[in-house]
This record gives sequence, structure tokens and C-alpha cells, in this order.
Amino acid sequence: MDPEGSGTGPGASPRRADRPLRILAVAVQKGGTGKTTLAASLAVAAAEAGERVTALDLDPQNSLAGWGTLRTNGSVAVDRVQPWEIGQLTAILDLLAAQGTTLAVLDTAGSATGLAPALKTADFVLLPVRPSRLDIVAARPTLKALVGVGLRGRLALVLNQCPPPPSPRTTTYADQLRALGVLAEPGIIHRVDHQDALATGLGVTEYAPGGPAAEEIRALWGWIDVKMRATAAR
Ligand SMILES: Nc1ncnc2c1ncn2[C@@H]1O[C@H](COP(=O)(O)OP(=O)(O)O)[C@@H](O)[C@H]1O
Ligand SMILES: [Mg+2]
Repeated sequence: MDPEGSGTGPGASPRRADRPLRILAVAVQKGGTGKTTLAASLAVAAAEAGERVTALDLDPQNSLAGWGTLRTNGSVAVDRVQPWEIGQLTAILDLLAAQGTTLAVLDTAGSATGLAPALKTADFVLLPVRPSRLDIVAARPTLKALVGVGLRGRLALVLNQCPPPPSPRTTTYADQLRALGVLAEPGIIHRVDHQDALATGLGVTEYAPGGPAAEEIRALWGWIDVKMRATAAR
């Protein structure tokens, strides 16, 4: 894992510290790492923390949008961006900003589909990976793409679906990523609450508000929030 290059690449979009809308993309070019699961629960946790959240499903598989149709709580707006609408993503985000959305969470496909436009618009990108070599190696193309659009300092990997501690393997990967300055914390442990929450149209903080999975997701949103504010201020 070696994010190369630095600074703002030629494809970078202008980022304004004063923009009322912040854009968090959840992306890595590998399926099954937990993008949709984390996007959904982070969107809910951010709304609970006071953000006006729109979650946008950019994945043609529409898992996040399907979750949205199960929701009865309107705290998070959930919408799809179809592949043929991807060229209008900036305009869609401008409209959301004008309508008062303060945080857009973009869930992306585990392939290159729609990825470049999502990454270009993002203020911060979260890359969920399982604590396995295959996942971490698979994150490299996404990291390269992020560096290419000037997001080197605006990305973090989060270890997801971790075995319950103590797990020397998780600790080893966490130490490596932390040393590179690209680890989002805390890591998220594999818990069925995440699966049951998603299956019922809930974020895990709604499904089991007092549980450890909810606690981890709240803490992860807190970490991302602080990091996004710090990088926007630079
Ligand atoms: N922290 C977690 N604990 C338990 N199961 C999880 C966790 N994160 C993801 N999963 C499960 O892993 C599978 C893949 O997750 P998903 O969010 O669909 O990944 P992606 O969107 O990256 O393809 C799903 O069955 C989901 O319920
Ligand atoms: Mg998904």
C-alpha cells in the first residue's frame, strides 16, 4: 500500500472550506468489503449528530437504494444516481446543497463504474477493507485514482468485518496503516447487528442504539467528521 504522488492533480475539483455541503464517498474497487453497510450506518449516525444527510447510491446493484425503500424514518434522504446520470453528479450535488443537505454520502460500486466522477467530487473518501492482504492489495488502484485527483490527504482506510479482539492480524494491519497516516478509527468488528440493521432499513445506531456496533459507528463518524473539518480548513 503506497499512496504515491502529492498535491493537487490535474483532475482535481475546487474544494471550498466554506461550502455548506460536505461530500463523503465510500469507495474501493472490490465488492463485499462493507461499503454499503458503512455508508448506510454512517449516514444515519451523521444525521443523529445533526447533519442533514442525503445518501446517494451510485452502484447499479442498488443495495443502498433498496435499504432506503425499507426506511420509515425520514432522517436520511436516500436516492439513486443512475449510470447515465453520473455526468450530472456535480449538478445533483449543487442542487442538494441548495436544498439544505449538509452531508452527502456516496456509496459506490466495487468496480470502476461511476467511480471517477464520485472521487472527483468528494471532500473525503473512506475505503473499507477487511483485515486481509487481498483486500488491502485490492485497495491500491482506488488509492492511485485518489492520488490522481488530488485526494492524497483526504482519504482513509477503515478496517471492517474485523474478528473480535484480540486479533494480532487486525493489529498488524492497523499499525501499518496508522504509520502511513491513512487509518480511520476505530475499526469495525464483524457483528450480525450490521446485517440485521441493513436488512430492516435501519442504521445500526437505530437498530441497537446501546450496542457495541452502534458505539463503533458513532465513533467512526466522529473521526471522519473531525478529519473532514481539519482537511477542509487546510
Ligand atoms: N461490520 C460488519 N459486520 C458484519 N457483517 C458485515 C459488516 N460489514 C459488512 N458486512 C456484511 O458483508 C457483506 C458485504 O457488505 P456490503 O456492505 O454489501 O459490501 P460492499 O458494499 O462493499 O459490496 C454483507 O453481507 C454485509 O451484511
Ligand atoms: Mg455495496
